[in-house]
Order: sequence, then structure tokens, then C-alpha cells
Amino acid sequence: MGGLSAERDVSLRTGRGVADALRERGHDVVEIAFGPDTAGVDELVRAARIDVAFLALHGRGGEDGCVQGLLELLGIPYTGSNVLSSALAMDKVKAKEMFRLHNVPTPPYYAVSEDEASDLEELHGSFGFPAIVKPRSEGSSVGLTKATNFAELERGVTAALRLDPCALVERFIAGHEIHVGLLDGRVLGAIEVVPKSGFYDYASKYTAGATEYILPPRLPSTRVHGVMKLAERAARALGCAGPCRVDLLVTEGENEYVLEVNTLPGMTPTSLLPKIAAHAGIDYGSLCEAILAGAKLHAGLEKKAATSTRVPRHSAVYVADAESDADLLRAVGE
Ligand SMILES: Nc1ncnc2c1ncn2[C@@H]1O[C@H](COP(=O)(O)OP(=O)(O)O)[C@@H](O)[C@H]1O
Ligand SMILES: [Mg+2]
Repeated sequence: MGGLSAERDVSLRTGRGVADALRERGHDVVEIAFGPDTAGVDELVRAARIDVAFLALHGRGGEDGCVQGLLELLGIPYTGSNVLSSALAMDKVKAKEMFRLHNVPTPPYYAVSEDEASDLEELHGSFGFPAIVKPRSEGSSVGLTKATNFAELERGVTAALRLDPCALVERFIAGHEIHVGLLDGRVLGAIEVVPKSGFYDYASKYTAGATEYILPPRLPSTRVHGVMKLAERAARALGCAGPCRVDLLVTEGENEYVLEVNTLPGMTPTSLLPKIAAHAGIDYGSLCEAILAGAKLHAGLEKKAATSTRVPRHSAVYVADAESDADLLRAVGE
């Protein structure tokens, strides 16, 4: 928990919530909080001598595959998605490319790198307004702006580029905001999010009473069913495992758009995924235990290590020394 990203504080709350719930259920929990002022996460994880890691990190360095990769190498099973899915989901541009490949509707967009920012007018062309500007790889609405004209767009891009080398400009979609909770590829339920300010920014997400949460969403049940199926497809397109939350916008008309998949969704006792699970009859402690039960290693490094010990060491030396194909064939005894 904790970590180095802009979502550090939320992560600490997620971590403490999960740790308390698991302790209450008799698990032996060590809280590993790392950050800019602590020892490195690798050192802390080794020192804690854990059997399994319940990941409570959000944002870059924690939700994006980095810590997942470390745990694969250390051979410690961990909760949630693997390295690749975590990295894809954290990168909003790559996630949208995957959505398009898998026929998952997502708002039209373009990306602006630091080098391209001076050509913004040309890049934006006839894209139109309002538009949403966000950093490519942030969460919790950090660095997100709604632009209704070019001056606002420029300010938004500058703000996003302060946080990330690449900004994403997306068509603004007016509609119901629905978040779907999933566990191991199966939908737990959906919740409608109605920020009182009209904008689901950082304050609306984390200030008590700033947002109304409606469960089930105010949509016909057939439509909610369709939205859930779409969320399932979005998570599958990225290959997600364990808990995840898919954020969608649903218009008054026929359209549904996937904004993003969160592979390490907020897990404080009052976060959306626990709210959705509670509505489905799964209390917070049971949800934490169900997530813990799904912890695993994905990269198959242990299996490969076991196989390679059976291969005679010297064969690798012959292959490395082989000057030509003929040498190589002699070396392997053909
Ligand atoms: N294209 C869009 N149209 C309308 N609102 C948007 C759009 N993109 C984002 N938002 C609003 O901003 C919030 C955060 O955007 P999101 O893409 O989910 O990033 P984050 O990772 O910061 O949660 C959304 O929950 C939604 O309220
Ligand atoms: Mg979101």
C-alpha cells in the first residue's frame, strides 16, 4: 500500500481497510507501506517474508504491472491482474487501442505528446468541443479537465502534460455514469455515480457527500444488463483477473462507452466495488477474502526454472559457441 503515485493517500486507506478486515477474519497480516521516504518496495517485501501479497496500490508503479513484475520474480503470489493486463489498463491510450480491436465502444480520442503540444490547433482540427483532457496514465481524475474552447483545451493539455509525457483528448460524452464491479471476470453489479458538482473530479470522488451513488442504476434493467456485458467484454479485452471496476458512460440514446478499466479499484470500506458487492450480498470482509483466494503467479517462471534444471547445462554452451548451422547441428547431435 501507499506507493509513489498521486493516489498514494487513497491507497493507504484501501490498504488499512483491507488489512483490518483480513485480520478480523484471522489472517496474519503485515502492512507493507512504501513511499518516497521508505526503503524500496523490493527490500520491504523481502523483509516481511509474506506468503501472498494483497495489492492495495493505485496508480503508476503499483497498478501498472511494476509491482506485479517484482512479485513474479520474487515468486510471491499476488491478487488481481497480471503484468500485461495491469500495464494495458493503466495506459489509457493502449487500453483504448485494445478496446477498438475487440469492438468495445470507447469515446473518440487523440493523443498529444510533449513534442506535439505546439501543434495542438492542427491536431485538434475539427474534433470539436466540449472535450475532456486527461493524462495518459493517471487515475482518480487527477489532471483531468473539461474544455469547451481552444484556450481551455490548451490549458488542459498543459496541465495534463505536467503529470505525464502524453495527454489524451477525448470527446465529451453526456450521459449516465455507470461503474461495473467484476471479480474474476464475473459481474458483481453496477452503480450509478452522480457527482453534485456535475463533474466526477478528485473532490467529488473523495469528499463525503459530494457524490450520490445510486444502486441499481436508473436505467431499464435490460439496458443495465447490456452495460454489464459490455464491462465484461472490456475486462476480457485487457485480460484482467481478480477484482476490477469498469467505468462507463451511457447516453440517453443508444450509445454506451467504456472509459477505462481499473485493475486495482479503490477498496476502502466505502469504495464503489465494496458498495456493489454489498448490494450483491457479499460483505466487505468476504470480498477481501474472495480477492485473496484468487492470488496467484501468472508468468510461469517457477515452471520454467524447474524445466531448465532438467536440460543438461553444456548443451547451452555448445549452442552459444556454434559458428555455423553445421556446428550447431553437430552440437545438438543431429
Ligand atoms: N469522455 C468523457 N466524457 C465525459 N466525462 C468524462 C469523459 N472522460 C472522463 N470523464 C469524467 O471524468 C472521470 C474520470 O475519468 P476516467 O477516464 O475514468 O479517469 P480516472 O482514471 O481519472 O478515473 C469519469 O469518471 C467521468 O466522470
Ligand atoms: Mg475512472
